Amino acid sequence: MSIDNAIKYKFNTGDNVLYGTNVICTSKKIGDLKQVFQNEEARSTMEQESIVYSVSLLQPIEAGTVGGLFIGTTIIEQGQVDQEYYMTKGHIHKNTSSSEFYWGTKGTGMVLMMKTDRTYHIELMSPGSIHFIPPETAHRVINTGNEKLIFNACWPADAGYDYETIYNEGFSCRIFNQHGIPTIIDIEK
Ligand code: F6R
Ligand code: ZN
Repeated sequence: MSIDNAIKYKFNTGDNVLYGTNVICTSKKIGDLKQVFQNEEARSTMEQESIVYSVSLLQPIEAGTVGGLFIGTTIIEQGQVDQEYYMTKGHIHKNTSSSEFYWGTKGTGMVLMMKTDRTYHIELMSPGSIHFIPPETAHRVINTGNEKLIFNACWPADAGYDYETIYNEGFSCRIFNQHGIPTIIDIEK
């Protein structure tokens, strides 16, 4: 029997970031998000180094391992490109049978989930809300509040990412700030 005294991995409640030997931190800046927002011209004239969202990703097992799990924390800054709120790029999992949990810890926003037939549904995210993302469902989170939006995610280590489909086809709706109210607008493909 052995007891591991050292904390191997840690979720720091101060800065809301994961720590540990297998944690990778990345961020997406305005300059990385070409074609993500509707008003590409507005995005291209903004400060390109400005951070839109950051992810700390805990990979305790090799990517692709069947039966393995990953955890990630995402912090979406408060902001807009023109009238569209800051949001994640969004993706579908390469292994389309993978599902995922998201749960909110700070701020408010929306979880957008879109099926392969492009029908979508939206769940409101707030501290403590839990969101189940079923298989074959593209997902994106939008920060519609007036502070940072922070959420955690847990998903299979063999899920993989497909960003290309969303990059090429987009989601079937976008969320805009219209006179202070988060407004869902359907998008024709
Ligand atoms: C993992 C997952 C999240 C996102 C993160 C950033 O499957 O859904 O950890 O990766 O919120 O969003 P994307 O990956 O869309 O840039
Ligand atoms: Zn995912």
